[in-house]
Parts: sequence; structure tokens; C-alpha cells
Amino acid sequence: PAISAFVATLPKVELHVHIEGTLTPELRWRLAQKNEIALPYATYEALLASYATMYNHRRELHGDNGLPTFLEAYYGGMEVLRTEDDFYDLAMEYFAKAKEMNVRYTDPFFDPQAHTRRGVPLEAVMRGFERAGRDAKEKYGVVVGWTMCFLRDMPVEDAVATYEAALWAAAQLGSNEYDRPPRLFADIFQRARKDGYKITAHCDVGQKDTHEHVREVATSCVGGMQGADRIDHGLNAADQPELLALVKARGLGLTLCPHAYHRRLPTDWVFGSIKKVWEAGVPFSVASDDPTYMHQQWVTENLGKVMHYCGFAKKDMAKIQRDGVAMSWAPDDVKRAIL
Ligand code: ADE
Ligand code: ZN
Repeated sequence: PAISAFVATLPKVELHVHIEGTLTPELRWRLAQKNEIALPYATYEALLASYATMYNHRRELHGDNGLPTFLEAYYGGMEVLRTEDDFYDLAMEYFAKAKEMNVRYTDPFFDPQAHTRRGVPLEAVMRGFERAGRDAKEKYGVVVGWTMCFLRDMPVEDAVATYEAALWAAAQLGSNEYDRPPRLFADIFQRARKDGYKITAHCDVGQKDTHEHVREVATSCVGGMQGADRIDHGLNAADQPELLALVKARGLGLTLCPHAYHRRLPTDWVFGSIKKVWEAGVPFSVASDDPTYMHQQWVTENLGKVMHYCGFAKKDMAKIQRDGVAMSWAPDDVKRAIL
């Protein structure tokens, strides 16, 4: 659906965006030249063309189709990021776009381990992002709450070492969740909770054991006895009324990325499930996940889809933003000023 002026100008929060998943092909090409990194594409046009079919396949779940998986494309794309300025430029491009879309607050995820494991110093990552977060506020009026993402398919000890070395605002579990349940990370999340950080974890749609992962994140296995502070994706809770009731009873919201599901699942299931969440009174926010790896569907496009396919009124869309503000980890004064 076309983006209406209403959706375009609605004041927004974006609570589920991987900053490395906003790396545009243009910036990727430019950084590859600057850093003298050979890409597997002879021309910019060939690089661009590679994004058209990207990559909704999970080899562990679906078998080998000969193409890179989504995560291989995503981790491959970020190899051009090397210096503090590269991370700064990546983030500032997203924040400029956020301002254009009237996003007032965002707590973007970043993957320090995806950079340190290829030899990039942690300081380059942290300094670049930290500086961009400060400048986003000053230059664009976009408030940023960086959220460090642990790669759940790497050893738990590696997450612990990264935790001890890094500075950030909140903690999160991402990457490939196949046979990597949240409970493996219970200790580090418990520690993060004690240290005063907010906590969330991915429970992506249609993954193995996804209902069990939602249950773990909602209850005791992440962040101590209270469970997490919200759930990223978690839309399969809509399959099971009692699971949805548990999420609601825990007071958790979901960050939903409709196009991420719609690119691989039937329209009726995706938006029917979102309607079930809505009707159950579970708050949710709408976000883009990895927009440049998902057909350039940014937060406005994702909101446009929800409005169109769920048949929501303008006042419903405004409520989704208010729920997003309430779910966000912005400081109270920022929360009051956002919408
Ligand atoms: N990290 C970045 N994007 C991701 C996704 N879509 N699923 C799991 N981990 C991710
Ligand atoms: Zn995600």
C-alpha cells in the first residue's frame, strides 16, 4: 500500500531496528571502496540486484536452497564497517532517515560481537555509535537508547566478555535462535537486570520452539524472576490464547515487524495474528527490523501495511504509537515529550 500523509507524519517510536540492518547498498559500496574491501559484485548495479531476492530462508529449518540465508547476507553486508567513522556514518544515515519519518525515539540494536569477531576493536564500534547517538539528538531531535545485542549462536562466555567490556543502555538476544533457547543466557540477563539494564530477546515468527521461547522470555528464564521487559517479535503467542494471556498478565509488549513476516508468510496469518494481539489488549509497537535487507520497508511502510491489512483507523494507529512510547525505555521526560 502507498504511504498516506497520515502515516508519514504521525509522530513515531521505532523499538526494533538492527542498526547494521539499515546499511544501505550505497553506503556499503562507498565504504568498500574507501576501506579497499573486495565485494563479490563487480558493479554497484550487481550489488543492488542482490537485494531484490533477499533472503528469507533459514537453512536449519528449510534445508539448503543454494542461496545465502538472511543472516549470512546481513553479517556479510557489515564486513565493510571497519572504523569508528564507519559506524558513526551508518548510524547517522539511519537517524537522518528517522527524522524524515518523524521517529522521535528509537532504541536501536547493535551487534558488537559481529564486529569484534572479525577483528574490529570494540572501541571503534562503541565510540562511533555513542557519538552518533549524541549527535542524533542535537542535529535531528531523535533520542537514542542503544541496545546491545548478544549473538545467541555464539558461546555464552563470549556474551559475558562483551558485556563486561561494553557500555550501553539495554540488553537483547538476537541472531539464530535454532536450538539456542533464552534460558542458556539466564545468568547474564539476571546480572544485567541487577546492574539496572532493560532486557528483551528475539522470539522470531515461525522458528523452532518459538512458543517455548516466548514462554521463557515472559517468565523466569530471562532477567531473573520477573522475566524480560518486553519481547521482540513473539507474534506466535497469537496461536495460543493462554500464551497471549501470559504475555498480557506479565504486562509485556511486543515489537512487531510485519514485513519481516509478510515476506515469507501468508497475509491472512500475519495480519490476522496482529489483530488477535490487538483484540487481546497486548500492547505492541511496529518496526522495520532490517529494512535494507527486507526490500527497503522502513517503519512507515510497516505501519502502512498494518493500517491497510488490519483495517485500523487513524486513532488506532495513534494508540499503537502511545503503546510504543509506554513500552519504550526512554527516560520519563523524553516519554512525555515524544507524542
Ligand atoms: N539480527 C539482525 N537481524 C536479525 C533477524 N532478523 N533475526 C535474528 N537476528 C537478527
Ligand atoms: Zn530483529
